[in-house]
Amino acid sequence: MKISEKDKAYIAECLGDIIATRQAQSMKTFIQHGHISTYEHVLNVVCMSCRVDERLHAHSDRRSLIRGAFLHDFYLYDWHDPASNEGLHGFRHPARALARAQEHFQLNRTERNIIISHMWPLTVTKIPRCREAWIVCASDKLCALYETLLRDKRLFAIDL
Ligand SMILES: [Fe+2]
Ligand SMILES: [Fe+2]
Repeated sequence: MKISEKDKAYIAECLGDIIATRQAQSMKTFIQHGHISTYEHVLNVVCMSCRVDERLHAHSDRRSLIRGAFLHDFYLYDWHDPASNEGLHGFRHPARALARAQEHFQLNRTERNIIISHMWPLTVTKIPRCREAWIVCASDKLCALYETLLRDKRLFAIDL
């Protein structure tokens, strides 16, 4: 799938301060599914979310959409490692990702809702409450499907 040079430049601008941190870079060392790192996965979700926003003419707050999509899995451990992962990862990691993200970045209400609700409906009471959160919730599932079935590491060929 393609993403325009203009969109790539805007994504890079929105994520510059996050990507510069050691914590964001550490996501390159954690496996998300199969052979795909958490870092590759969240970048795929950023691009997919922008694509869905365009297709639906949803006119999202694009900066919050991009930052929330990047931080949605900012839990910073390898969930396959039992030592670093207490309890059920699927249920617990949105709250962990939000707590970690808030330790390092100032998040607005939209970004917080994107992170905490991205596993809905698994996390029954954490409902997406804005269009940006609905878009990331759907885009995350789409990317997980593509990444698992097609084993496609870089759905959008974006390097940041
Ligand atoms: Fe997640
Ligand atoms: Fe995810």
